[in-house]
Amino acid sequence: MTKKMTISSIKKSKGVKPLVMITAYDALFAKLMESSADMILVGDSLNMSFAGKDDTLSATLEQMIYHTKAVCNGAKNSFVVCDMPFGTYTDKDKALENSIKVFQQTSADCVKIEGGEDKATIVKYLTSNGIAVCGHIGLLPQAFRSEGGYKIKGKSDNEREQLIKDAKAIEDAGAFCMVIEGVKADVASDIAACVGIPVIGIGAGVDVDGQVLVFSDMLGLYEEFTPKFVKKYMDGATLVREAVKSYADEVQEKEFPQEIHTY
Ligand code: KIV
Repeated sequence: MTKKMTISSIKKSKGVKPLVMITAYDALFAKLMESSADMILVGDSLNMSFAGKDDTLSATLEQMIYHTKAVCNGAKNSFVVCDMPFGTYTDKDKALENSIKVFQQTSADCVKIEGGEDKATIVKYLTSNGIAVCGHIGLLPQAFRSEGGYKIKGKSDNEREQLIKDAKAIEDAGAFCMVIEGVKADVASDIAACVGIPVIGIGAGVDVDGQVLVFSDMLGLYEEFTPKFVKKYMDGATLVREAVKSYADEVQEKEFPQEIHTY
């Protein structure tokens, strides 16, 4: 059994070994992820691939708590990150109240908050009240509607400067690591170099401190759209369809169940 990562071992891995983060939303998949992933993220992306919604914005705290409990049950030896959904950390008191619910009702090791300099006061309040925080800067899926789509960040000098300010502010506020999403690779690399905590990329190039992918994207299960940064490690959708078709054919042909499946 591999040793469970801690805040301290995650921080110490910077510059030593790239961190592997992957999402999971249930016990079954979390258990399968456990042997290879350093951290399991219960992302609010579950609202899209699990709940079938068009974006993450309608995910609720209750949903996140339900799925985080399931992931913690399945992967007892994993460091689990619970995404705080849209609208649950609009001010510091609300953020603390909701993060305490996550900590009290699940075994999550930390919460994840989207935002940079603008969320630093909230992150500081959480970390100084015993809530470990993973930041999330760059492309913010929760800003999908307000920004009119998923916008890659770091294309202009202004954006580059703001991202560096965001990363430093989140580090200064006490976050122990951060996700950086949808950022030009050279900018993400500069950011990873200018903070002392691990910067875990998704669509941010290779020159950061680790990578995160949404499991349903990398297993080829989510077919609605595939961002450029996703590598499909298997064609899960085809495999599942073929397996279910074989089952259906065998039921219809009365080839299943056989003697070995019968009492
Ligand atoms: O919700 C999620 O899965 C995420 C990843 C895209 C990092 O936040």
